[in-house]
Amino acid sequence: MRDIDQFTITQAVKDTFRTEKGSRFEQLLHGLIDHLHDYTRENRLTHEEWMRVLTFLYDCGRISTPERHEFILLSDVLGFSALVDMINSRDGATEGSNLGPFYVDDAPRMPLGADLAAGRAGVCVLVRGKVSDTRHRPLAGAIVDTWQADAAGTYPIQEQGQDKMDLRGVFETDDKGEFWYTTVLPRPYTVPYDGPVGALLRAGDRHAWRPAHLHFILRAPGMSSITTEVFFENMEYLDEDAVFGVRSSLIARVRPVREGEDPGVTTRRAPEAVVEVDFVLAPAD
Ligand SMILES: [Fe+2]
Repeated sequence: MRDIDQFTITQAVKDTFRTEKGSRFEQLLHGLIDHLHDYTRENRLTHEEWMRVLTFLYDCGRISTPERHEFILLSDVLGFSALVDMINSRDGATEGSNLGPFYVDDAPRMPLGADLAAGRAGVCVLVRGKVSDTRHRPLAGAIVDTWQADAAGTYPIQEQGQDKMDLRGVFETDDKGEFWYTTVLPRPYTVPYDGPVGALLRAGDRHAWRPAHLHFILRAPGMSSITTEVFFENMEYLDEDAVFGVRSSLIARVRPVREGEDPGVTTRRAPEAVVEVDFVLAPAD
């Protein structure tokens, strides 16, 4: 090993790991070493550049908290998250989109018809839809886990003194696979850009805006879970999302509630607008 050079070092490093031959772990680790070494050789990385990369990663870790995951944000702005979503989309199923940095896994269970807005200002919108399988059969008892920004484009989790569970809820579909709740229509927002990822965006003359959206995770027994987002027709930034999350199939229409219209479902608050969102889950592998 002492006679390695800039070309033989790659195999030497791979050989030091006693990985199971042909395993997925070996494939991913060897691929990472290959690409990292190739990148370094191709660009003839200087010591200053190498240290800048390590300092950048250190800074991403230092600013991260349970409420702010800078590495997810980094993945998002580099299109890494979107690429993983695209590769893992299943035929006939709803397309995946970004998880984003603000998910929490212990949002409260809510009854159908609940209001997520907790008195917040904004347009009260009824979000309603159906979860079905790829053969159009409704999935009763599917879990609809949703979270979003408010009408000012802020997630309650980002604000001191706010209940971090506001504008989040976990619903279970009824026997027709349907779910519904009211909330406020979210606004576009900028991803956090006061940290190292923001500095990266500024260095590349990029903006940090995302179009308004609702986040969803859909789960049902025997089905592949989907993490996705729903966007709104004719809203700003649909074609310049800072994190590459928008797909045409994920854009919904917001329509005003017509005078005297009976939405056909019971809600705690009377909605001013309706958004219909349907989700399709594929069977688990
Ligand atoms: Fe978001």
